[in-house]
Parts: sequence; C-alpha cells; structure tokens
Amino acid sequence: MSKETLIKSIREIPDFPIPGILFYDVTTLFKNPAALQELSDTLYEMYKDKGITKVVGIESRGFIMGPILATRLGAGFIPIRKPGKLPAETIEESYDKEYGKDTVQMHKDAINEEDVVLLHDDLLATGGTMEAACKLVKQMNPQKVYVNFIIELKELHGKDVFGKDIDVESVLSL
Ligand code: PRP
Ligand code: MG
Repeated sequence: MSKETLIKSIREIPDFPIPGILFYDVTTLFKNPAALQELSDTLYEMYKDKGITKVVGIESRGFIMGPILATRLGAGFIPIRKPGKLPAETIEESYDKEYGKDTVQMHKDAINEEDVVLLHDDLLATGGTMEAACKLVKQMNPQKVYVNFIIELKELHGKDVFGKDIDVESVLSL
C-alpha cells in the first residue's frame, strides 16, 4: 500500500474541535485492516534495529499504535497521561498546544538509564505535546530518545521544537 493510499484513509473534518482547525481523523485508518497492517509494518521497519526497550505513548491517540509497536519490537509500553489518571508517584509538564493548554504526567519509575526510548503519538502539530513528553522522558536520562508520529503537519514546523539529540520521524507528511 502506498503512502498516498494511507493518506486517503485519513478522514478530514473541518472546524473540529473548534472553528479553524482541520481535524485529521486517524480512526478511519485504524478501521481499515490493510491500512492498519501497513502502518504497523512501516513503523516496525523504521525502528526494528534501534534497540528500543520502551515505547512511550501519549494519551489518548498515542495509546493505539504505541502498544502495537511495542509488541512488535519486543519492548515495554509506558503511558503518558493527562493529569490525575496515573495512580503512583508522577512527574509532570505543562504546555501550549494547537488548541488550548494542557499538562501531561508520567510515572516516576517508568524509565531508567538503560532504556532506549521511542515516544509515539498520532499527530505532530505545534509540537507542544511531544516537547512536554520529551522533557518528562529526558529527566530519566535514558540512553537515547526517538520520537515518532503517524502524521506530521509540515506547515506548523512542529519539528523545530526538538533538539538535535532527538531523532524525529513521521510516517506521513501533510
Ligand atoms: C492531539 C494529537 C496530539 C496533539 C498534537 O491530541 O493527538 O497529541 O494534539 O498537537 P501539538 O503538536 O500542537 O501539541 P489532543 O490533545 O487533542 O488529545 P487526544 O489525543 O486525547 O485526542
Ligand atoms: Mg493526542
């Protein structure tokens, strides 16, 4: 399946959740068995030789491909969640996003210095969400941090928020 076909499987919804935002709905990609399989295979090929020990998914749309990819890579899965959802001791970061302000939390004991970490989310817009997630992960001093998105919105230049030490890749660019 080509990248163009994968892109066509994403539903576009104008003015959601607020006027002026064009929402890229990945549920239509996940609903299509061939597209889901292709995405899983593509992500596996991108990261199979990186020695990833933990995949970190960001609530909520990073919780779909994150665990699928972790299973294929033989890695563990770590959730980064919105405030008040994680039961044990957490660290947190606040950030601005494409629409509104938010905070993310991660369990303090989720990652250690031996880990090679792959952070995953569905979409890169301004980069605010993933930047905050990276700050949480980096506090744990892992060996290396990779960042992955299914979709990158090129014109918002979200990639610019990441330092040169972080390897940022997207499956699809829009
Ligand atoms: C969306 C999307 C990314 C983030 C991208 O999540 O899933 O996580 O926004 O925006 P940014 O690059 O400007 O930070 P959202 O916060 O809407 O929540 P959801 O995943 O729970 O739907
Ligand atoms: Mg999200």
